[in-house]
Amino acid sequence: MYVESVVRWGAWSILLYFGLVVSAGGCPPRCVCQPEAKVICSGKHLNSVPEGFSSNVRCLDISHNKIKTVGRRQFSGLLQLQELDLSDNIISMIEVEAFQGLQNLRMLRIKNNRLKIIPVGVFSGLFSLRFLDLSQNEILVFLDYTFKEMVNLQTLEAGENDLVFISQRAFFGLQNLQELNLDRSNLTFIPTEALSQLQSLTCLRILRLTISTLPNNAFRRLHRLRSLLIANWPALDTIASSSLIGLNLTSLVISSCNLSVVPYSALRHLVYLRFLDLSYNPITVIQGNLLGDLLRLQELHLAGGSLLRIEPGAFRGLAYFRLLNVTSNQLTTLEESVFHSVGNLQVLRLDGNPLACDCRLLWVVRRRVRLNFEGHQPTCSSPDAVRQREFRDFSDKDLPTLFTCRPPHIMDRRSQEARVEEGTTVLFSCKADGDPFPFITWISSHKNVVSPTGRIRVLPNGTLEVRFAQVQDSGTYQCLAGNAAGNDSLAVKLYVKGLPHNRTISFFSEEGWVEPSNTQAVNSSAQMAKPYPFDAKTLIIATTMGFLSFLSSVAICFVFMFLWSQSKGQIKHTATIDFVPRSSMSGGGDGGDGGRFTMKLI
Ligand SMILES: *[C@@H]1O[C@H](CO)[C@@H](O)[C@H](O)[C@H]1NC(C)=O
Ligand SMILES: *[C@@H]1O[C@H](CO)[C@@H](O)[C@H](O)[C@H]1NC(C)=O
Ligand SMILES: *[C@@H]1O[C@H](CO)[C@@H](O)[C@H](O)[C@H]1NC(C)=O
Ligand SMILES: *[C@@H]1O[C@H](CO)[C@@H](O)[C@H](O)[C@H]1NC(C)=O
Ligand SMILES: *[C@@H]1O[C@H](CO)[C@@H](O)[C@H](O)[C@H]1NC(C)=O
Ligand SMILES: *[C@@H]1O[C@H](CO)[C@@H](O)[C@H](O)[C@H]1NC(C)=O
Ligand SMILES: *[C@@H]1O[C@H](CO)[C@@H](O)[C@H](O)[C@H]1NC(C)=O
Ligand SMILES: *[C@@H]1O[C@H](CO)[C@@H](O)[C@H](O)[C@H]1NC(C)=O
Repeated sequence: MYVESVVRWGAWSILLYFGLVVSAGGCPPRCVCQPEAKVICSGKHLNSVPEGFSSNVRCLDISHNKIKTVGRRQFSGLLQLQELDLSDNIISMIEVEAFQGLQNLRMLRIKNNRLKIIPVGVFSGLFSLRFLDLSQNEILVFLDYTFKEMVNLQTLEAGENDLVFISQRAFFGLQNLQELNLDRSNLTFIPTEALSQLQSLTCLRILRLTISTLPNNAFRRLHRLRSLLIANWPALDTIASSSLIGLNLTSLVISSCNLSVVPYSALRHLVYLRFLDLSYNPITVIQGNLLGDLLRLQELHLAGGSLLRIEPGAFRGLAYFRLLNVTSNQLTTLEESVFHSVGNLQVLRLDGNPLACDCRLLWVVRRRVRLNFEGHQPTCSSPDAVRQREFRDFSDKDLPTLFTCRPPHIMDRRSQEARVEEGTTVLFSCKADGDPFPFITWISSHKNVVSPTGRIRVLPNGTLEVRFAQVQDSGTYQCLAGNAAGNDSLAVKLYVKGLPHNRTISFFSEEGWVEPSNTQAVNSSAQMAKPYPFDAKTLIIATTMGFLSFLSSVAICFVFMFLWSQSKGQIKHTATIDFVPRSSMSGGGDGGDGGRFTMKLI
């Protein structure tokens, strides 16, 4: 094929060279007929499709004119036509069977016109069409069977229309469609049913949509889909956990949306995924050990997000991981323990982050020659001595003195021991310094890590708080201060003495354990237990009030019954009421004839 066309092109060039322009048939006025059966009528102020083409035209360009309509069988006879360009006109109407007879047409462009509706049958006869561009029109709906004869269509460009609806069988017949682009539409839901007809679809791009949730099963039955691009959905903040189910993607982009977390559970089954781009989402953290199922992942892009942290083990299990693009985030560091193995890492975009140049980044600066920063060197933000310096500026002999850390040191090492009575609140402080600033963890006497919430909790300043101490809280608690350079620890002891008789009352509210009285200091004497909040008097009043309201309801009932009976013409003077006595029925339960009484109405 290639050789043949080169030879043919060569032949035409030679003919041209000798000034022998050959036109096998007519050439419409205002059009330029080139060799290779190419006719160009672009930008000639044409108001209608010109006529009089030779029947061997292969390529026809009528773009940039003022054509308004395309009539039925407008191009009949152009059996050889392979490419037709009607873009940039003002076409608002294409009649049914307009392209009938173009049995060799492979490419049809109707981009940037004023189509509002495409009647079913417009595209009939286009059996060979591979590429159709309908973008930048004003199409509102795709009706059922619009594309039904286009069995060879591979690419459909449908972006920048006013699409509000895609009918369920609109894509019926597009059995070979591989690529669909839906940029900017007014759809308010994902056209799941219509898409599910596209059995061969490998690449789907949906841009600029105002949907806030990607629902479960949104793309079901797109078994061949390998690349999904979702971008510029400013309201998209929820990716349902089964939304991508049924897909086997190798490339996924969800960028410029409103995601605040990485959609771990929706991604989990995408074990063939190689490329993941979540850039320009307000994601603050990549958590540890949650992406490990993406075994073949090679590239992760999360540029321009709000990343504060990438936790250790974030990319554990990703043995092929070679590119991380986290440019323009809020990261202060990137620890080596984040990766499965930094040996495979080739490209790292870490610029645009407020990096703290300490021992945690030593692995990066050591690899600064081998790693590809794509021309964007990471830059230190702190400590002050190296502020604004780029990684390539450092020499090997600088490193041991510059990229350093100071292991944590717990400052007040006096032994802390508290002997308290039940119900007391106790505080144990643990302050440490180090560089980077150490992270404080408390281990309970039962060897559990104490959480920041609950009755026993760690306060933001690292202090351990035990509220309403109970006897079983007694024991040794351990404070661990750790950073990348090491650990320091301190043990404290708590003894809680039980109070045999009166106990303090505490209750659990939404905010945790709440104390009825003021917080007591560690060494205060036995706490004043609060008495039971209701005394007998209150109970009597409450009961009486309940009974009174019951009585008044009954009274109102009777008044209504009276009014009703009066308003009716025929007055019934008795009413029979069946009832089931509650207490006596507990054993029997047959619920039959409980009781009955007759009442006389006034
Ligand atoms: C589609 O959305 C655009 C922008 O939001 C709006 O200007 C246009 O009127 C909408 N079209 C329809 C048919 O709703
Ligand atoms: C994005 O989410 C935030 C809250 O998470 C919300 O305040 C904001 O309005 C959302 N933006 C859009 C465009 O919906
Ligand atoms: C998923 O896609 C990969 C890569 O294209 C392919 O090798 C694999 O067979 C597919 N798996 C299924 C279940 O289709
Ligand atoms: C990383 O992200 C930035 C911003 O989106 C982009 O310009 C750059 O090309 C990306 N790098 C790679 C290797 O894709
Ligand atoms: C820690 O914070 C708590 C409450 O915010 C406070 O009572 C305590 O004194 C603080 N401890 C230290 C050591 O700063
Ligand atoms: C600090 O302690 C943790 C947990 O005990 C341990 O995993 C880590 O290796 C220690 N770090 C150093 C630098 O000793
Ligand atoms: C703790 O005990 C000391 C000495 O007995 C006393 O001076 C101090 O006021 C007590 N603290 C509180 C909060 O009761
Ligand atoms: C506990 O009970 C004793 C009497 O048994 C009483 O004197 C004391 O005030 C009570 N303490 C509290 C905290 O209620």
